[in-house]
Amino acid sequence: MHTTGSENTASKMPGLLLHKAMAYDLGVWILTFGREGAMRRKILAHARLQAGEAVLDVGCGTGSLAIEAKRQVGSAGTVCGTDGSSEMIARAAKKARKSGFEIEYESAPAQALPFADGCFDAVLNTLMFHHLPRLSREQCAREMRRVVRPGGRVLVVDFAQSTRKEPIDFLDHLHRHGGVDPDEIVAHLEGAGLKIAESGNVGFMGLRYVLAEAPAAA
Ligand SMILES: C[S@@+](CC[C@H](N)C(=O)[O-])C[C@H]1O[C@@H](n2cnc3c(N)ncnc32)[C@H](O)[C@@H]1O
Repeated sequence: MHTTGSENTASKMPGLLLHKAMAYDLGVWILTFGREGAMRRKILAHARLQAGEAVLDVGCGTGSLAIEAKRQVGSAGTVCGTDGSSEMIARAAKKARKSGFEIEYESAPAQALPFADGCFDAVLNTLMFHHLPRLSREQCAREMRRVVRPGGRVLVVDFAQSTRKEPIDFLDHLHRHGGVDPDEIVAHLEGAGLKIAESGNVGFMGLRYVLAEAPAAA
């Protein structure tokens, strides 16, 4: 599945990398009021995963979504996770071992994924688009398009960019570090050659999703 000769350029990649992996998990637990599992399942419902599928989670962080994805694709399916932060990858690998799931993790930039063309049925990208500068979002969208198979799916989920000057509540205050205009996500995915299948609210903490499909092979 990996491309040969791909160079790991993680150390010089643009994007806001996170390094405090344990603190990240604690932060998610607090932000979701202990309902992270419910959030992950709601997100994944939009990816329409089937048993036996090959899934890639780009910018996987500490790997909670990848674990839930593996649960859904089962033993016949495969899940890979990539993140630019080796600390996040290390924690993700530890969590997978603890949960008894076999998941492949690699430290790699979202702008240059170390995989061959068309080798995944579904590519996931959650809560990370806002960590990328604009040009990198374009590159990431192109890379996700490249590694998804014809007819496969790409799911991007992120906080919608707030247009308010003042935060309205505690969660809004915490999220003001970032968000992405959902129309911008749509434009990047379409620009990469994907067709938008569906978009809307995840139904959890103001998260928005865009599901796109790669054109079927001619
Ligand atoms: C807010 S976290 C989201 C993690 C995970 N997807 C989740 O849903 O919990 C954003 C992640 O993107 C990673 N990241 C930021 N820029 C990146 C890049 N250019 N390439 C790969 N990962 C990147 C960060 O290290 C961090 O783990």
